Amino acid sequence: MKNVLITGTTSGIGKALAEKFAGEKMNVILVARDRKKLEQQQLFLQSQYQVKVNYILYDLTKEDAVDFIIEQIKQWGIQIHILVNNAGFNECGYFRNTDLKKELEMINMHIRFVTELSKRILINMEENGYGRILNVGSTGSFIPSPTDAVYSATKAYIKSFSDALCGEYRKTNIRVSTLCPGATQTEFAKKANIDNTLLFKLAVMKPERVAEIAYFKMMKGKRIIIPGMYNKLLVAFSKKP
Ligand SMILES: NC(=O)c1ccc[n+]([C@@H]2O[C@H](COP(=O)([O-])OP(=O)(O)OC[C@H]3O[C@@H](n4cnc5c(N)ncnc54)[C@H](OP(=O)(O)O)[C@@H]3O)[C@@H](O)[C@H]2O)c1
Repeated sequence: MKNVLITGTTSGIGKALAEKFAGEKMNVILVARDRKKLEQQQLFLQSQYQVKVNYILYDLTKEDAVDFIIEQIKQWGIQIHILVNNAGFNECGYFRNTDLKKELEMINMHIRFVTELSKRILINMEENGYGRILNVGSTGSFIPSPTDAVYSATKAYIKSFSDALCGEYRKTNIRVSTLCPGATQTEFAKKANIDNTLLFKLAVMKPERVAEIAYFKMMKGKRIIIPGMYNKLLVAFSKKP
């Protein structure tokens, strides 16, 4: 039975992905900061799908987050076959006005954490001769976005980093994919105070649909996954600002 480590599982796309993997009879390790939600999710997934569910409660903006996770997995004696780097958040607004502390935490989580965890888990995947990594970017990975400068820059890093790894592992049984969703109906927009924008009113996808597409395409080893026709067109026809 495969073991999947997913970050940011207590809501949105990560929650839908955790349910998808459990539904495909894989054991899941959930990572987020909300203990109550993690406990409820563990009980639900175990009883609904009869798979093993562990959780790790940690703030991934912290510098020692990867050490903490690797140590926990070692103690459990679990090998990770599939890694999903999904946890993320946004800090919107004109760059001169946004909260620098939040932006530096975002860089820590979207870039530092994803890079370090991928390296540590890939070593394990190489030993096992199998691995899948899904790194969650955004349509912003392709489009530098005014009023979203740091967020879209971190998502561009995620895509560039994942593309390069995908090339390095081409001749092996390890695949690295980037999921690039557009507006998705999760808590993300509300937390970033952009839920009233036209984009989040008109062109929004359900997280379950995004997770469904992501699952099938990543398992096939597709390099870039852009869910939904609107998002594909957005990426194809966007002009740089
Ligand atoms: N929704 C969209 O429109 C959209 C569009 C493009 C890309 N994305 C990307 O999709 C991914 C998932 O976002 P979502 O839309 O599903 O958002 P969401 O509903 O806000 O979920 C974010 C998840 O990340 C976790 N998380 C946030 N900060 C964390 C931290 N410091 N440490 C540990 N866990 C943390 C949250 O759990 P806790 O609060 O319990 O820690 C939550 O489970 C993100 O990478 C986001 O950038 C979303």
